[in-house]
Amino acid sequence: MGVEGIVIRKATVEDLPILLGLERACFSKARYTKDQIDMFLRGENEETFLLFDENDPVGSVMLSARGTKGKVVSIGVHPEWRKKGVARDLMTAAEKWFADSGATEVDLEVGVQNPEALNLYSTLGYEVVKVLKGYYGGKEDAYLMRKQFE
Ligand SMILES: CC(C)(COP(=O)(O)OP(=O)(O)OC[C@H]1O[C@@H](n2cnc3c(N)ncnc32)[C@H](O)[C@@H]1OP(=O)(O)O)[C@@H](O)C(=O)NCCC(=O)NCCS
Repeated sequence: MGVEGIVIRKATVEDLPILLGLERACFSKARYTKDQIDMFLRGENEETFLLFDENDPVGSVMLSARGTKGKVVSIGVHPEWRKKGVARDLMTAAEKWFADSGATEVDLEVGVQNPEALNLYSTLGYEVVKVLKGYYGGKEDAYLMRKQFE
C-alpha cells in the first residue's frame, strides 16, 4: 500500500450508503444508482474494494471477472483525497484480485475528456482498443482500454 495511514478492505452490502456517498462525491454525471450498486455488491463475479482514512471513506473500485475476462467497472477517489496515490492503491488491489480470479485480460471504459483517469490507466499499461461513440448518454465518447496479463 502506498498512501500512509490508509486501509483497504472488501465492501459488503452493509457498505451501500458509503459507496453511494462516494459515488455522489466523485461523479457529477453517469453515476450508478443505489439499486445498481446494491446488485453489484450481491453479485457472485463482482468485487468492490473500499479505502479508508480511519473511518473516513476516501475511494472505491468496483470490479468484475468472468473466466479470463476482467473489468474495472468504476473507480472514484473523494475530491479531498486526489493526487495522493489513492487510485494507484485501489488499482494495485484490483490487479491482485484479477490475478487471484484468473482474469488475464482486463477492460475498462473511460471518457475521452477525462485526462486524470486516462493518465492513470495508461501509466498502468492499459491501451486504447477503440473509441465508443456517444458512450455517456450520447454526449461524450469513451475509449475502451485493455491490459493483458501474463
Ligand atoms: C481518476 C481518479 C480516480 C484518480 O484518482 P487519484 O487518487 O487522484 O489518482 P492518483 O493520485 O493515484 O494518481 C495516479 C495517476 O493518475 C494520473 N492523475 C491523477 N490525477 C491527475 C490529474 N489531476 N492530472 C493528470 N493526471 C492525473 C497520473 O498519471 C497519476 O500518476 P502520478 O501521480 O505519478 O502523476 C480521480 O481523479 C477521480 O476519482 N476522478 C473522478 C471519477 C473518475 O473520473 N473516475 C474514472 C472513471 S473511468
